[in-house]
Amino acid sequence: MSAHHQDVRKVTVQTLKQMKIAGERIVSLTAYDAAFARVLDAAGCDFILVGDSLGMVVQGQATTIPVTVDDIIYHTRLVVRGTQRALVMADMPFMSYSSAQDCLLNAARLMKEGGAEIVKLEWGELQLDMVYRLTECGIPVCAHLGLTPQAIHKMGTYRVQGREHATATKMIDDARALEAAGADMLLLECVPMDLAREITANATVPVIGIGAGPTVDGQILVLYDILDIAPGKRTRFSRNYIEDTGSIHRAVERYVADVREGRFPTAEYAFT
Ligand code: KIV
Repeated sequence: MSAHHQDVRKVTVQTLKQMKIAGERIVSLTAYDAAFARVLDAAGCDFILVGDSLGMVVQGQATTIPVTVDDIIYHTRLVVRGTQRALVMADMPFMSYSSAQDCLLNAARLMKEGGAEIVKLEWGELQLDMVYRLTECGIPVCAHLGLTPQAIHKMGTYRVQGREHATATKMIDDARALEAAGADMLLLECVPMDLAREITANATVPVIGIGAGPTVDGQILVLYDILDIAPGKRTRFSRNYIEDTGSIHRAVERYVADVREGRFPTAEYAFT
């Protein structure tokens, strides 16, 4: 082991919980290979998500639906190889957690074969039981609420969730129930900022936002969005960091500093 390796203090889910308590903003991006993981890790990202967004930004698919457990394992292995400090989170793909048996088996594969340190699953009524079972097995879990892209064919379009009183109240209750079931983190995607603020204030676990405004505990974006190489139109809540910085390293460093210091996201990137 090199001296550098020995000096690096690995981020764990406990570190992130301590950061929430201390009021320190948590920073994250997605990555899908060792080269980018190295850049994110060196820039100070606290956790790296091997998201099923890889279906769209790496594989060129129209949705995240076709992504397989084997795909996530492969990319998680690459990211783990490029990471020293950051916690590595792996997404559970569509239908890989639709029964308790599949959920435990696939989460175990992501950890044992991929090297993931926490898994993420998208919210649906069945998932409460899954979070509980994963927790019982000692598997850290992040629950993704709000816009859940794996449900695109049910939702019809990618749009902000929780704008109506009933859906907002339900999301607040769901977040509470997920934490009680053992979720170590919550991730809110495309949620009005006032609702995100309330969920964050109620939660004792870190709440990470993407399109959820500035009043959550941390931020995540899809790396290829900030580098302006994602296919299609840029999402309203992400920011192109390459145009002002001109280099991948500087773009990631600027994003990390902006989130840490509370300069990103501003209201311009949030929903009401
Ligand atoms: O798959 C992914 O990249 C995600 C982020 C959008 C949070 O789930």
